[in-house]
Amino acid sequence: MKPKMHGAVKSTGYAAGSLLTVADLTVVEVAAILAATDRIEQMSSGDRARMLTGRRIALLFYESSTRTRTSFELAAKSLGAITTLVSDKSSSIEKGESLKDTGLTLRALGAECIILRHANSGAPYLLAKATGLPVLNAGDGMHEHPSQALLDLRTILARLPGVNAGRIDAKTLAGVTVVITGDILHSRVARSNAMLLPRLGAKVVLCGPAGLLPEDALGLGSALNTGCVEIERDFDKALKQAQVVMMLRIQRERLAGLELDLADYIARYQLNEERLVVGAPKAVAMRLVMHPGPMIRGLEIAGEVADGPNSAIEDQVRHGLAVRTALLVRALGAGGFESVTV
Ligand code: NCD
Repeated sequence: MKPKMHGAVKSTGYAAGSLLTVADLTVVEVAAILAATDRIEQMSSGDRARMLTGRRIALLFYESSTRTRTSFELAAKSLGAITTLVSDKSSSIEKGESLKDTGLTLRALGAECIILRHANSGAPYLLAKATGLPVLNAGDGMHEHPSQALLDLRTILARLPGVNAGRIDAKTLAGVTVVITGDILHSRVARSNAMLLPRLGAKVVLCGPAGLLPEDALGLGSALNTGCVEIERDFDKALKQAQVVMMLRIQRERLAGLELDLADYIARYQLNEERLVVGAPKAVAMRLVMHPGPMIRGLEIAGEVADGPNSAIEDQVRHGLAVRTALLVRALGAGGFESVTV
């Protein structure tokens, strides 16, 4: 059964410091997370390592991950926390243990926070409710990937000329158009970004073929109605207005029988050098290329674009590590985040 797509559902009643959806974050909280990220980044490694000394953080991963898992783990370790990784491949999950029982086991072992990646949309809500612990959603099915949206925001603020990164409010990204292209339907990254970026003033344009981008994309009907999120199926047209272009992988594991003509897809939607330079030269020099990874070179993105001067793909990874330190400090109520609640 395909997971149901939800609109922007606010979660209440979960442990403070949880991050289940970007809908839970006010713009003020987003600003606080980014400010904490800056503060932690500027600390000496010794001071940083004292922030969560000895605190226990569990990483519970039911789906493959490279960037998200490693950056959460390295972020936790840099703060002095003790981490443990439980993956579906080598744990009692393989024997049929439920998410709830796995969560309760981790709690009994002293975990104070759980970072969860799960194939089912909504799984982090269940875990947060069952354990009462702060849960950080590291990607749930086709639903959300809040820490990715925050790291993408930080990347845009750091790399896009003319943006005042020092003042985070509803106008910070006014005049900025972000085109998200590819497998929007299955993308929790697209969904979290389409929910977060417009709240800072950006326009989000979704681009892809109907099979990968249905009309009510992401269930974000209200956002589509306000004009903050638009659909443009012609990639070249979409690119003309874009300062930021975010490319997405086709999620083969979630296609559920959907057939795609890859040659046609590449012809219409691959970001190659020729496409990247569409529009005024000034706009091109500024155009930022992003990809949450994993990227499939030669499919959604040409290798020379991924490696080119406009690419912010490695920056995204670096910002991911930084933002996740702040999310962990927030989750564990340390470092001035005590007053931040969800
Ligand atoms: C993505 C994910 O898992 O949602 N990657 C990531 O976390 N950076 C995107 C994908 O799997 O294509």
